[in-house]
Amino acid sequence: MSSDDGQDVPATRESPIRPRAFSGIQPTGTVHLGNYLGALRNWVDLQDTTDGVYCVVDLHALSVPREPGEVRQATIEAVKDLLAIGIDPDRSILFVQSHVREHTELTWHMQCVAAFGELRRMTQFKDKSESNDFVSAGLFTYPTLQAADILLYDTDIVPVGDDQRQHVEFTRDLAIRFNNRYGDVLVVPEHRIPEAGARVMDLQNPGGKMSKSADSPQGTVLLTDSEADITRKFKRAVTDNDAEVRFDPERKPGVSNLLTILAVATDGDPVQLASGYSQYGPLKADATQAILELLRPIQKRRAELDDPEVVQLLARGADKARAVAVPVMDRVRAAVNLL
Ligand code: TYM
Repeated sequence: MSSDDGQDVPATRESPIRPRAFSGIQPTGTVHLGNYLGALRNWVDLQDTTDGVYCVVDLHALSVPREPGEVRQATIEAVKDLLAIGIDPDRSILFVQSHVREHTELTWHMQCVAAFGELRRMTQFKDKSESNDFVSAGLFTYPTLQAADILLYDTDIVPVGDDQRQHVEFTRDLAIRFNNRYGDVLVVPEHRIPEAGARVMDLQNPGGKMSKSADSPQGTVLLTDSEADITRKFKRAVTDNDAEVRFDPERKPGVSNLLTILAVATDGDPVQLASGYSQYGPLKADATQAILELLRPIQKRRAELDDPEVVQLLARGADKARAVAVPVMDRVRAAVNLL
């Protein structure tokens, strides 16, 4: 596939039997319902039709200050979440970013085709740099590492939530620019964002997305939350005063978020579901039940996993990931054609 003289560098796999999907998640505390409904359930489904490559992006987590070892354990926890939801390490490649050194090497090449102004316009950078006292250069160049993650695997499809749309579009721009400069080397990927659930909102502050770093933990449902916690979080979910159940994300963000969660969990339609309720109480109760049912088997599987087993499985995952990444990096090196 690669060549020594920089010639003959095909942009796609030689026999792409199935498209390749790649995505990643940061190991920063347990996975929440937003991650699951917005992205991870798609990772699981795509295993039937694509070659999946799924990565716990530990280097990304270092873009804000962390204690030594903090990311290490969080990585194991994130992998357990992924196994529990149904990522099958025999069908997909499941691995940790820092185990495949090519990610950082390709990042440099991405930084050299990325414009400073483009990075400055990234909304995630703007949001995160406003809420952090120390803004690292890594936080600024974060999207170039993300681009390298994706491009290193000749990725066709990137299943993500809506908040990653801009990063995937940026990745496409970088791939096209790199190809214009060096030849047809990188596959230009597309995002896969679900119609419903792409932006699950915080239960306490439905104007903002559900996130691990929310002001109040009460607004974020974790996959590992107890039944009592989940019930309480939904019961206390912020709605509004006019007591009408209607799907209207602009004017009724809290109620619409509950309808979205219920719809995604039950394969329903939020507008149709709304017509079945005249009060908030029953809607909250049904959303609670739907999520408890969804999470019960996940929590059961998760409890059966132990750390040594996970570490072993990740070593195999890293080998499989390298087998894809190394030839792509070889192609990049050949195309750039340094001495
Ligand atoms: P991260 O770790 O913040 O989130 C993982 C995935 O969950 C989605 N997500 C949501 N979807 C719906 N509603 C929400 N409230 C919500 N919160 C999070 C995210 O869109 C994401 O798909 N930069 C990425 C990680 C990354 C990556 C990559 C993703 C690194 N390299 C390469 C794809 C491809 C991030 O921080 O995701």
